[in-house]
Amino acid sequence: MELAEVVPWGRGLSEYKAMFSLSDNDLKKSILGCGDGPASFNAELSKSGHNIVSVDPIYQFNSKEIRSRIDEVYPQIMSQVAKNTEDYVWKNIANVEAMGSARMTAMQSFLADYAQGKKSGRYINVSLPTLIIINL
Ligand SMILES: C[S@@+](CC[C@H](N)C(=O)[O-])C[C@H]1O[C@@H](n2cnc3c(N)ncnc32)[C@H](O)[C@@H]1O
Repeated sequence: MELAEVVPWGRGLSEYKAMFSLSDNDLKKSILGCGDGPASFNAELSKSGHNIVSVDPIYQFNSKEIRSRIDEVYPQIMSQVAKNTEDYVWKNIANVEAMGSARMTAMQSFLADYAQGKKSGRYINVSLPTLIIINL
């Protein structure tokens, strides 16, 4: 897949757990999610009382702006994946449609949580490698 720029694309908690081999014990620790973007990892974890802060430059934008960017890039990514299905392992996700639906569900959960999470300091606009978070 070729993309000219970084795009908002988000996974859910169960995918994060599998991707990073996170145990229930790991999730009890304080977590810094780097480049979480519009994933629902933070939203789902904090809902169940866990302690997580996500940093990503996408958080300089408000929810309306992020939603409109998601709506813009979603069809492009789906079309690229559909053209290159043989480049992916379809084991945990059955097909392109199921992947699109899982990503959209995760991003909608993120968007529903974003304003509140930003207010409470769970979504911070920082770009790696800089990780200075100023709390005034
Ligand atoms: C494709 S999304 C993946 C989101 C999430 N990690 C997931 O797996 O669902 C990549 C994210 O990396 C973020 N990103 C790109 N450059 C970054 C940087 N220098 N520091 C932190 N995040 C960055 C983008 O803004 C974007 O939200």
